[in-house]
Amino acid sequence: MLTQTPKGTKDILPIESYKWQYVESQIAKVCANFGYKEIRTPVFEHTELFQRGVGDTTDIVQKEMYTFLDKGNRSISLRPEGTAGVVRSYIENGMSSLPQPVKLYYIISAYRYEKMAKGRYREFHQFGVETFGSKGPSIDVEIISLIKQLFDSLGLKDVGLNINSIGCPICRKEYNQKLMDYFRPSLDKLCGLCNNRFERNPLRIIDCKEEKCKTITAGAPAILDNLCEECSTHFEGLKKGLDNLGIVYNVDKNIVRGLDYYTKTVFEFISENVGTQGTICGGGRYDGLVQACGGPSTPAVGFAIGIERLLMEMESQGVPIPPQKEIEIYIATIGETSDTYAEKLIYDLRKRQIPAEKDLLQKSLKAQMKYADKLGAKYTVVLGDDEVKNNRAVLKNMKNGEQAEIALDNIHDEIINRR
Ligand code: HAM
Repeated sequence: MLTQTPKGTKDILPIESYKWQYVESQIAKVCANFGYKEIRTPVFEHTELFQRGVGDTTDIVQKEMYTFLDKGNRSISLRPEGTAGVVRSYIENGMSSLPQPVKLYYIISAYRYEKMAKGRYREFHQFGVETFGSKGPSIDVEIISLIKQLFDSLGLKDVGLNINSIGCPICRKEYNQKLMDYFRPSLDKLCGLCNNRFERNPLRIIDCKEEKCKTITAGAPAILDNLCEECSTHFEGLKKGLDNLGIVYNVDKNIVRGLDYYTKTVFEFISENVGTQGTICGGGRYDGLVQACGGPSTPAVGFAIGIERLLMEMESQGVPIPPQKEIEIYIATIGETSDTYAEKLIYDLRKRQIPAEKDLLQKSLKAQMKYADKLGAKYTVVLGDDEVKNNRAVLKNMKNGEQAEIALDNIHDEIINRR
């Protein structure tokens, strides 16, 4: 146990972490182009925020949160997602007085006590976007186009986009009534949780993963066919906006999403490569959440992409990831004087952005050269007392074996000129 990560978590080792850095740098670039600024919120929040913000009829809050009492007897939970914390921060920091819309993004770890499966972890990471203050469908289109541009910049192809609308409290009320009429005769055939959902939030029954419930929900009325005029116009606007940008989508009446806060637009990007449920990204509008959490009435829309699943998709599609910066030069040394000289030399090389290494273990010359090879160093130089005294050394190109005598104090330029 002592030397094992807890179930559902994993280390991101150097052979993987450069891929994360690459994805994160692409995210930052795309967000900058779209005018989204980064926000960082705490890993833990008051449990109440998630009960209110994610919804206490959701699986996440009912079954999956890491909740504990802190030493001051406060109920605290690790964040199961990013939206609630950002909404809290929007309210707490008075962001409604900033020019609207407020456009934020985050890259976070999140925690859910879920059953392990392919692409499903207990600690996972999300890149998310939240926007506040704009109620028209243009901003829904904008965030979807941001995802599309991110996928394009990463070289991803054919990640399917499914969209739906789940209405607003006005049309949902009538629709819930229809749903209840539909489910009432089959209540004894639904699972215990769905019986509970029936009273509190019947829409959630549609999202149940139990086979017996799925069979019954297959014939249930769809919210998309029961939208009020405002929601219907919004959905038409969304489709028109996506068409205008040439973004291909599929309308899927069954998307209801696993969180309670959504209104109107909901969407998912899916792929078979990332596990049983196949969702790389999920998002939607949540026009009532800021107010439900104690802030002013504020329309909002956002999404989150699972970074583990994004990387899985990239791997499945075989998209190239630029390799880590290689060591450019390895300075091998013989004796104390040259070692001291090399110490200063690599310090200066690194200062000039040239990745450089020297021996740190008093290895033999042979072992040093072997190590340089393992590091993938492009050049090597062997320094002994004579080289240091005469300021001359042989620069060897490790790829093609070419050798050139150079002045040691000019080594930086010699390398830069060979790039
Ligand atoms: P979500 O659908 O719960 O939405 O999660 C978004 C994405 O996070 C999923 O599509 C998936 O890629 C990833 N994800 C979720 N759970 C796991 C897990 N256990 N292991 C690995 N990856 C996972 C949200 O979290 C909303 N906050 C999205 C949002 C933002 N809606 C509006 N704004």
